[in-house]
Amino acid sequence: MALQHSPQIDETAIVAKMDFCIPGEKVIFYPADRARSRWPYRPHEVKIYDARAVKDQLDLERSGFVLVERESAVENFYDPEEVERVYIPEVTALVQELTGADKVITFGTMVRSSAADKQGHLPAFGAHVDYGDRTVREYARRVLGDEEAERWLRGRYVLINVWRPIKTVYSAPFAVCDASTVAASDLNDSEVHGGLGDPNRPPLYGYSVSFNPNQRWYYVPEMRPDEVLVFKLFDSDSARVQWTAHSAFEHPHTRPDAPPRESIEIRTISFFAP
Ligand code: OGA
Ligand code: FE
Repeated sequence: MALQHSPQIDETAIVAKMDFCIPGEKVIFYPADRARSRWPYRPHEVKIYDARAVKDQLDLERSGFVLVERESAVENFYDPEEVERVYIPEVTALVQELTGADKVITFGTMVRSSAADKQGHLPAFGAHVDYGDRTVREYARRVLGDEEAERWLRGRYVLINVWRPIKTVYSAPFAVCDASTVAASDLNDSEVHGGLGDPNRPPLYGYSVSFNPNQRWYYVPEMRPDEVLVFKLFDSDSARVQWTAHSAFEHPHTRPDAPPRESIEIRTISFFAP
């Protein structure tokens, strides 16, 4: 069931072009060599609502995403040592608090910038869901070792991303789609080769998302560094909402002199004791 919209929400909604996968087409993406990719995406106009206007209704089990106000103690997100030491524990604690999981692990830290001259990776334009069950299980084994992973993987496990601006976002904002409005038939298989900043990484398996008029998209206008989007991508309990599709997009009101978008995202897996 989609979120309740007040009549005023239309006044702040925008219409923007977003890239969607052609239904039935498979994506094979090489982030380090985009020209080699199979990328059957096409732009589509979508209405994108202000997530702050529905903040109180958001719930990981209902909409698949929440918007949380939470300062970070990190001073420099471009320092991997500080991210590891300060940010990873903050993210782990936040996800643990939101899910009530018995154990939370993290992987796949990505710092992004829309400025080519900055350290980090470009925003990801194109609706997608990273990742599916196969890759979640592979990461559980990689982080925990086979034996411990097998124990936890017998219970419920949930993949959740935590996305935060490094500076207030004035360009290339990030949109998420209410997971309860994403249908299984919107998902197309995707493989990312050499993803998460490692050209030698084995393929990551997820989904490219096709447009469906029932989808409800949201973004946080001029999202601040003390705001965090936490969104669910996979749930081993398939009766629950999962698949919070998401994408960067070009906001039609972006000023030509707007600073580049800088953000950090971390992937987490929550485990519930069987
Ligand atoms: C993500 C993601 C894209 C972006 O956090 O999973 O796809 O542009 N981010 O920040
Ligand atoms: Fe993603």
